Amino acid sequence: MPRLPIPDRPPFTLRARLLTPLGAGGYRYEADARLDVDAAGRLAAVAGWDTSLPAGSEKVIDLRPWIVLPGMVDLHLHLPQLPNAGLGAGLDLLTWLDRYIFPLERTFDRTAAEQLAPAAFRAMAAAGTTTALMYGAVFEGSLDAAFEAAEAHGIRAVIGKVMMDRLRYDPKLDESRVLEVSLRQSADLIDRWHGRDNGRLRYAVTPRFAVSCTAEMLRESAALARQTGTYWQTHLAEDRNEIQEVGRLFPDALDYTDVYDRAGGLSERAILAHAIHLSEREISRLAETGSRIAHCPSSNLFLSSGTMPLARYLDAGLVVGLGSDVSAGPDLSLFAVMRAGAYTQSGMRTMLSDPYPTLTPLEWLRLGSLEGARALKLEDAIGSVEVGKEADLIAVDPELTAPIPGLEHGEPEDLASRLIFRSHPDMVRAAWVRGRLLEGPPGA
Ligand code: GUN
Ligand code: FE
Repeated sequence: MPRLPIPDRPPFTLRARLLTPLGAGGYRYEADARLDVDAAGRLAAVAGWDTSLPAGSEKVIDLRPWIVLPGMVDLHLHLPQLPNAGLGAGLDLLTWLDRYIFPLERTFDRTAAEQLAPAAFRAMAAAGTTTALMYGAVFEGSLDAAFEAAEAHGIRAVIGKVMMDRLRYDPKLDESRVLEVSLRQSADLIDRWHGRDNGRLRYAVTPRFAVSCTAEMLRESAALARQTGTYWQTHLAEDRNEIQEVGRLFPDALDYTDVYDRAGGLSERAILAHAIHLSEREISRLAETGSRIAHCPSSNLFLSSGTMPLARYLDAGLVVGLGSDVSAGPDLSLFAVMRAGAYTQSGMRTMLSDPYPTLTPLEWLRLGSLEGARALKLEDAIGSVEVGKEADLIAVDPELTAPIPGLEHGEPEDLASRLIFRSHPDMVRAAWVRGRLLEGPPGA
């Protein structure tokens, strides 16, 4: 157990085990590592522990046997839906939205967001998530409250006001003004929040999905994202009934992906959640435009949406990260998402004789960290524990993942395997963004 308190602000030096993917490919594991975090919250040194080295700062904290990993990047979750986590299993998407979600999001005003968001960010940090790409509700004030809470908490947050100009839940607004008001409010939120705290807070223009948005809203929202250099996030091809409905609403489009393509939405700043049921044409087009995929396997199992051919997408060169999709996914932990993903791929292999190999535990870890960072075009700043990057880190106690005390495994692939398949709710003991300790994890 650590002798000194866990450092809460930079500069500091950690002594710990280290497991991280590397930007150049492969992994690094150190049984005894030294991590120097400088005053600006950057990793100034990442090395094997060497007693001959002079201490880089006053504070040297020995976290062993804990493992330091990059903080996880959750590419898809719905902040207002947290209270619904775990409810409504087995319904199809459109029924679930109607019964469970729209009634909940309709109540998510500024006051509700002020109450929920601080606890939500603590829960994300406790799950090991240091960066999250989120949907709010449609109400502007709830977005301000969410950003204020993220600013105070310290998590790295990308959030967007949900835009809907049909199949919507805000009956107060007159139909003819919905698009104009939604665009203006999104633009105002971008002005207030995008890039705050040196880029820790960012904005994602967020048309909900093609069923809830007219072609005009999709087009205007994509233009706004392009003009402001913000992200553009939506849902794609999650559920068979949804796809059928999109075909009915957009009869001229070649397919679901083409609806977003015609709107000018596909680009390297587009993060599309699910993307389960795609044709070869759609996969090629998404790869060609550099569009990012948020893979949400626990959600896809929870709502019986389908199984994504992940290995095929990776083979096609798509950038894929992981999303919890709370509350269609029941759990904020990306380790739980990796587990659902691994079981899904494994099931597909047995049922479909899928020719692609399943991912290894270390590859799942990479998807949850570095590939998530790449999806947000932040791979130069976060996603792995390497010199020059910002110190977005988590410290995990692997003993909690052992089947019985003392039966802990030391090799990197085994460590990763236990974190994924034997996750423990308290295993993430600490989380930092830019070397600043986040509230949420239990500590020592
Ligand atoms: N498609 C449109 N809205 C939603 C949502 O809130 N959750 C999920 N999983 N899919 C959606
Ligand atoms: Fe979603």
